[in-house]
Amino acid sequence: MKAIIIAIDGPAAAGKGTLAVALAQHLGLPHLDTGLLYRAVGRLMLDEGRDCAGDDASDIAARLAPSDLKRTDLRLPEVDRAASLVAAQPAVRAALLQRQRDFAATHGAVMDGRDIGTAVFPHADIKLFVTASARARAVRRYQQYHDRDPSPAALSQLEAEIEARDHIDSARHVSPLQRAEDAILIETDDLTPDQVLARALDIVARHPKFLAGNP
Ligand code: CDP
Ligand code: CDP
Repeated sequence: MKAIIIAIDGPAAAGKGTLAVALAQHLGLPHLDTGLLYRAVGRLMLDEGRDCAGDDASDIAARLAPSDLKRTDLRLPEVDRAASLVAAQPAVRAALLQRQRDFAATHGAVMDGRDIGTAVFPHADIKLFVTASARARAVRRYQQYHDRDPSPAALSQLEAEIEARDHIDSARHVSPLQRAEDAILIETDDLTPDQVLARALDIVARHPKFLAGNP
């Protein structure tokens, strides 16, 4: 198959990463979870005691090392928020843009994030916008980390945090979270991860580049 770029965008805990990993594996493509870049910048800002909302974080974005992306403390709730705040800084996004484009340059890629189909690869071969209700996403995120169902109180708190982050991500001026006009919407409330993957593979299978490589 020719190098193909698949952009997967959507709000927090919609299942973007789960789909991206499975799709990349099925298609033999490299995968980049672009949220990790923003999480690492937010993490380093917190480590340095800097204000993610007020202080320019572009120096950190420019010197991110591969080891920063492998840290095990990037998915803590305080990093969720820090990532979202630094991601609203235009200079941070500018510093990370070329790095994301370079990733897919040779072999293509499956990339998941918020602005892959709108800003990073506006001409991506396939664009998927994966979403679900805030309630469903809060349940998923809780189960993902705790391996059990949330209490009503825990669920309400997580849902509020997810909605707050969705708001920051959608309301920012630069590269806001939005569905590209040509992105295919996948609503996942009533779908299992396998069903979402099957739908995505079906979309890929009908793409001319895929057909060209698989007569
Ligand atoms: O990357 P993103 O934040 O969008 O979500 P994720 O980390 O891939 O998925 C969050 C959780 O939802 C994982 O535990 C998945 O197993 C689960 N899930 C899913 O990804 N897709 C579904 N259709 C249903 C559940
Ligand atoms: O996994 P989850 O969906 O919770 O978040 P993530 O994909 O790891 O992204 C963390 C934060 O980084 C998001 O809330 C966005 O503010 C930011 N982000 C972004 O602005 N653009 C991207 N392409 C990816 C993430």
